[in-house]
Amino acid sequence: MSNPSEAELIHMFKGIPFTTRSSPELLKSLDTFDAREDDVLLGSYPKSGTHWLAGVITKLYNTPITLTSPIEFGDISKLEELSKLSSKRIIPTHLDYNMLPPNFKNKKCKMIYISRNPKDTAVSMYHYYRDNPNLPTVDTWTAFFDLFLEGDVVCGSWFDHFLSWEEHKNDKNILFLFYEDMKKDLPKTVREISMFLDIDISDDDIQDICKKSSFSEMKSDTAKENSDPSHTVCALTSNRKLIFRKGTVGDWKNHFTPKQNLRFEEIFNEKMKLSKM
Ligand code: A3P
Repeated sequence: MSNPSEAELIHMFKGIPFTTRSSPELLKSLDTFDAREDDVLLGSYPKSGTHWLAGVITKLYNTPITLTSPIEFGDISKLEELSKLSSKRIIPTHLDYNMLPPNFKNKKCKMIYISRNPKDTAVSMYHYYRDNPNLPTVDTWTAFFDLFLEGDVVCGSWFDHFLSWEEHKNDKNILFLFYEDMKKDLPKTVREISMFLDIDISDDDIQDICKKSSFSEMKSDTAKENSDPSHTVCALTSNRKLIFRKGTVGDWKNHFTPKQNLRFEEIFNEKMKLSKM
């Protein structure tokens, strides 16, 4: 059987490429989503460390919670499915801030956004495109590099995504995190998250959570299929085995040519002119 064509895998919604795993009917109906005040939303551009963050958060609670699949993943039945959950909902999403169901904003739900150096994000996404049958085929890194810079990839431009969330960075209900900070000092980030979510936690518990959330532990959990292998917090696959690749900072140096780096920096500086980061 030949590979599915790009048109079978991707459709556009409000100018942003989505996979067909996010149905147009669901995307259109998101504006009617009924958020609850105690919902926690996990926002990210793909490949920024969403599963890592979700892994930490689920270990922090000692009360019942449900980590759902991404709000934009599935078909029109999704909203009803979410409405049936009785426990506290932790809801991931790769949506741009401007596309979030307005109810999350009106009800001032807590939101945690995780971001990552876009160079490493691009490299991670390149490998994801290569390994993930739900995404179009890319032949070479060079070809993917161009697509990424043009925002011609699922979830659109990294720059637009980041800037849409950054505008709300100082909102009281939003916590902004960076993958690199988690790599540098995970206990510090775990403490920050627990304070933001008003969860009391001891230093010993933090150490334990960090141990269980290391790249090697999370990867081997998935390999052992202790965690549900067909459940992810990414709208682009349900296969957890595709998520844990290398888990390092700076892998871009193994992929970018000096010329690509220069071009990336130029575009980054131009697009991020309005960024305060
Ligand atoms: P790499 O492809 O660079 O390895 P997401 O969860 O948003 O899809 O992000 C996936 C990226 O986060 C992958 O990056 C993956 O390896 C990395 N990752 C997942 N769990 C991690 C962990 N516990 N520690 C460090 N990196 C992790």
